[in-house]
Amino acid sequence: MRAVDIIIKKRDGLVLSREEIEFFVQGFTDGSIPDYQAASWTMAVLLNGMTPQETTDLTMAMVGTGEILDLSVVVPLAVDKHSSGGVGDKTTLVVEPLVAACGLPVGKMSGRGLGFTGGTLDKMESIPGFRVDLTQEEFLSQLDEIGLVLSGQTAVLAPADGKFYALRDVSGTVDSIPLIASSIMSKKIAAGAQAIVLDVKIGLGAFMANREEATELAQLMVDIAHLANRKAIALISDMNQPLGVAVGNILEVKEAIDTLKGKGPESFVEHCLDVAEQMLTIGEAAADIAEARQKAEDALRDGSAWKSFLDLVQAQGGDISYVEDPAKFPLAKIIKSIKSPKTGYLSQIHARIVGETAVDLGAGRAKKGDLLNYTVGIEILREVGDYINEGDDLFILHAANQADFDMAEKRLINAHQWSDSAVDPLPLVYDIVG
Ligand code: URA
Repeated sequence: MRAVDIIIKKRDGLVLSREEIEFFVQGFTDGSIPDYQAASWTMAVLLNGMTPQETTDLTMAMVGTGEILDLSVVVPLAVDKHSSGGVGDKTTLVVEPLVAACGLPVGKMSGRGLGFTGGTLDKMESIPGFRVDLTQEEFLSQLDEIGLVLSGQTAVLAPADGKFYALRDVSGTVDSIPLIASSIMSKKIAAGAQAIVLDVKIGLGAFMANREEATELAQLMVDIAHLANRKAIALISDMNQPLGVAVGNILEVKEAIDTLKGKGPESFVEHCLDVAEQMLTIGEAAADIAEARQKAEDALRDGSAWKSFLDLVQAQGGDISYVEDPAKFPLAKIIKSIKSPKTGYLSQIHARIVGETAVDLGAGRAKKGDLLNYTVGIEILREVGDYINEGDDLFILHAANQADFDMAEKRLINAHQWSDSAVDPLPLVYDIVG
């Protein structure tokens, strides 16, 4: 087989066989297929799509490039969650310790920033010393000891996803249902959790623009989970405006800390509870959603979720003095609050523009391997539906220099829209699939 023939076949809209998909995935992972052919192939997949069978074959081929952890050797049932990607989406930083604090082990494999969306690994690595490249032994022993673990793709766990992910991030090949489904599900299957909650985002700041696409992605991932003998459920949730206040690595870690200490923004707390209650229910740590919600609320209130977060940071080598005293984190060079230029009801805070601006400020990558500036980002102070007067604080911009600040200020003001008549707040969850 030749890589170029497989690229041409997909370019011409034909269906690839399991052998062809395995050949391509294996070749890219072991380096025999170069980046430029892989970028061309992922673009052909993005443009021409894949059948559910091809997507399943792609997922299993990616899983097959590494090992599959068997978590049942250390815990009876471990749960995992994954978001399809959003702006300001620091949900994992809160729900993982929250659910673990409720007695349900969480074995999680996360990703880095992708396109205009942030990544859990980048956020956690903004805590000095925090390691995400865990070996299999470390993953299992940490899960056994403290009941929660947060790892990235490694040379042994879903290595193909690590390579495709970094390539897609900078080659315009992120927003494709088969590529997203296989990326997420290969990580979930490799990391071994028996029950999975998927958070599929829709809207301006998501890879899925509408309900139909989101439902297709959600159903596909749930079906792949079932084929791999895992339980799964998918929430379809809003990503038209950024989630919570903070967008940017250190800013999001600080917001997660506030939330774990009971001082998080209301809508973000609510979203975390929505995800946590699904994890506790599917993971059989609660009889029903009502009991799960109660447990999650208690763990936030009584400090046990916060304690769990400290355990996670410590176990993975992070310097907990930063999370205990977030004032220790470095700050961006320029931090300034921007006022509203208008009076009215906020009708839009364009999440994609906010996410792209954060990337351009240095919070995300323009090319593979770019170093991040963990300090930069944006605090979005208002939500859609809020009434705001001209001159009220609208957002706080954290930039590395004056040129970046000027670029971002204009774009972020333009990301906001005002209406003279009342605007309904955006819902958090639209649907549940599975
Ligand atoms: N999260 C992932 O892990 N992969 C994607 O492609 C999108 C979101």
